[in-house]
Parts: sequence; C-alpha cells; structure tokens
Amino acid sequence: MKIAVFGTGYVGLVTGACLANLSHDVLCVDIDDAKIKQLQEGKISFFEPGLKELVTKNVERGRLSFTADAKKAVQFADAIFNCVGTPSGEDGSADLRYVFTVAQTVARYADGYKLLINKSTVPPGTAQRCQLLIQETNPLSEVEVVSNPEFLAEGKAVYDFTHPDKIVLGAKTAKAYSLLRRIYTGRTRTYIPVLETDWETAEMIKYANNSFLATKISFVNELANICDKVGADVKMVTQAMGLDYRINPRFLNPGIGYGGSCFPKDVRALIHTAQEKGYDAHLLREVDALNERQKRHLTHKIKATFGQTLQGQRFTIWGLAFKPQTSDIRESPALALVQELLAHGADVTVYDPVAHADAREVFAERVRYASSLSDSVMDSSAIILATEWDEFRNVNFADLGKMMKRKIVFDGRNIYEPEMVREDGFEYVGVGRK
Ligand SMILES: NC(=O)c1ccc[n+]([C@@H]2O[C@H](COP(=O)([O-])OP(=O)(O)OC[C@H]3O[C@@H](n4cnc5c(N)ncnc54)[C@H](O)[C@@H]3O)[C@@H](O)[C@H]2O)c1
Repeated sequence: MKIAVFGTGYVGLVTGACLANLSHDVLCVDIDDAKIKQLQEGKISFFEPGLKELVTKNVERGRLSFTADAKKAVQFADAIFNCVGTPSGEDGSADLRYVFTVAQTVARYADGYKLLINKSTVPPGTAQRCQLLIQETNPLSEVEVVSNPEFLAEGKAVYDFTHPDKIVLGAKTAKAYSLLRRIYTGRTRTYIPVLETDWETAEMIKYANNSFLATKISFVNELANICDKVGADVKMVTQAMGLDYRINPRFLNPGIGYGGSCFPKDVRALIHTAQEKGYDAHLLREVDALNERQKRHLTHKIKATFGQTLQGQRFTIWGLAFKPQTSDIRESPALALVQELLAHGADVTVYDPVAHADAREVFAERVRYASSLSDSVMDSSAIILATEWDEFRNVNFADLGKMMKRKIVFDGRNIYEPEMVREDGFEYVGVGRK
C-alpha cells in the first residue's frame, strides 16, 4: 500500500521504517525542514536502537523516502498516519493543534477515499473532532478518520512495533477495518490480537495503559518511601510481590520517578479530560503529584548528607536520558536533579552514553560533560545514578573512588547491591533500601 506518515519523531519514523520493511511504499513528511534534510542525508536526530539500520535498508530498497511537501505526501498515499506530537498544554490538557493541522491538511489535499490514521496519543473524542474538522474544511472530502494508538516504548521501539502485544483499531466502517488489517498483515508471523472497537474506546485504551503503568510506578515509589521510614528493604518487598502472578514483576522498580514524553503528559491529559466531563480523578492526580515529589527524593538525601548548601561540592550524575537505550531527555528525572543541585550552588558533572547533545540544549555550559566514566568522577563528592544504563551496572567502584573527594553513591534506580558497594569503600544510599 502507499502510506504517508506525518511526523518523523520517535513514533513517526519508527512507523514509517517498519511499514516500509513490510513492503509498503512509505513517504514520511515533517514540517521541520532541517529534520527532513537530515533524513534525506541518512542522518537521524535521535538515538533508537536498530532504527538507523532499518531506515538505511529501506531507503536503499526505494520503499522509504522523506519530504517536507505535505500536499505531495497526501496525494501519494492511500492511508495517512498522523504521528505528530501531542504535548501537555499549560493546564495539563493534550495540546492537539498539530493533530488538527494534519487533519486540515489532509482534508485540503486529498482526492477520493483515504484513511487518516491517528496514531498520536489523543483524548477520547479527538477522532470525532478530526472527522468534523475534515468535513468543515472540505465538505466533499471522502477522508475517513480512524484511531490506532501506538504502544511502543522508546529504547525498543522497533521491536515493539513489529512485535506488539496488541493492535487496537478504532473505526466506524467495515472498509476502514479492512484497510487497516491490510496495512498490518504480515507484521509478524506470530499471532497478535487485533482489537476492533470504536473511536473513543481505542483512544481511551492508550490512556488506560499509560496511566496504569504510571500508577504502578508511583505505587512502588510510595512503598519505597515507607520502607525508608520503617527500615525495610523495598527490593525484597517488590521481588516478593512480583512473584504473585496477579501482580507481575515488571514496572515494580522504585526510583526517582518516571519521565519521558508519554507517562507524565498522558496522566495529566486524562486527569484533564475527566475534569472536563465533571469527574475528579483523585487517584491520577496523586500519581502525578507523587511522581513530581519523587524527582526530589535524592536531593533531600543529598542535603541530609552534605548540608543545606552544596556550594563547593562537585557531584557526578550518571545518566540524563529518561531511561536507558534512548537519547530522549523529555521530563527526565535526571534533569530535575541537575537543576536542584545547581540551584543549591553545587558544581555538576554529567555523563550519559548518548544524551549529551540534547542536554546541552538545556544546560549549555552550566554543567561539565564528562567524556568517560572515569572522567566523570574526577574530584567528585558523590556519584548519583539517575538512569540505569548497562555501562553503569558493573563499575569498579574501588578504582573510581581513588579519583574522588568523598566516596558515596546515591543510587536513584536501586541497581547496586549495598554490601558490594560498601566492600569497595563507598557509602551507599538507595531508594527504600535498608
Ligand atoms: N515517544 C513515544 O515513546 C511514544 C509512544 C507511543 C505513543 N506516542 C505518541 O505519539 C505521538 C508522537 O510522539 P513522538 O515522541 O514521536 O513525538 P516527537 O515530538 O518526537 O515527533 C513529532 C514530530 O511531528 C512533527 N510535526 C508537527 N506538526 C507537523 C505537521 N503539521 N506535519 C508534519 N509533521 C509535523 C514535528 O516536527 C516532530 O518531528 C505523541 O502523541 C505521543 O504521545 C509516543
């Protein structure tokens, strides 16, 4: 099939490359000319494992190309994926302006029947609003809107797109379902449940998924905070919980809060959507509030160790991305941590395997960017682990300690065993660890 993808960010580029790999002819379009130029030169502006290889392969095969010409993309395609951003508005609502712009663009240029597939995460009611907008923009338009939320996780986006645990299709007509099935046929040899439902349910499923995972994280963070008070080890507590098949061990790791471009904004958007309909989502409001408090969890412990002013101390932050295997720093707890340390007068050295370029746009020269793990601890008073990259898992603390002023680790992701760190001569502070 001929497919256009609007938006070449994390979701759009992965969608485009993976669909091209399934032998569709894909044209990706973005309003960011620089991004399109980079893609045409074979460069990708963010790190996502396996994506560059997939893009290169399908460009070479002639199945994947890039343009800044929206009209050309609409006219080229039978089906158009809407993968533009839906950031948080000031009031927490999903800012839908980019989604609506794409709907209007498609209405303006489409001739004949085409599918507009909303893959961006949007509140229930958005597909209907897009359909109305299309009819208003072009009363003769035959464009049909469908909802097909995406569940991929950054860091394993290519794998997730090709091996999803489900495909959710929200549509109104048999023709739309049939075309959608055709797009996804051959996605993988293994069976994937395809859930066919209405627009609003499909849109709601995505928010339900993300809000549940965010709730699970905030729940274990709350447990960790209580463990800190009562002298229990949260790692053992959550290991035991995870053995209960009704609970499942994933997303049971306490830490310094969730981040990224999805969980925070999606929880807030669902709270806002509920509010608009007269429902106060107390639980979700607390999930969000606890997460914001959790980002400052280590700052309190650092101040308890070093005193209220951190002037004259240098701290090493390991990890800036909101999670490993991505360069995405949007809403990363590491950023909040660095900001707090700087605000308290500390000097900060940061080290992340892939996120320095993005971090420079936030901190410029206010922090030192280390070139290696050992460079990162030079003259440092403490190591603060913010992102659990593999590179940080089996470090030789005994050697690193020789270059430091004080030997202490604040483990924001509970990846170390306290006894082992102590054997290497370090003090250990975790989240809810005994
Ligand atoms: N990132 C994730 O892990 C993830 C996972 C599932 C769902 N989602 C959802 O997918 C959507 C996209 O997320 P993302 O992280 O890929 O965003 P992103 O910010 O990385 O990319 C969005 C892209 O859309 C482009 N764009 C904006 N307006 C456009 C227009 N009119 N025409 C063409 N391009 C336009 C932007 O220039 C940008 O390149 C969001 O709704 C998000 O919530 C994201």
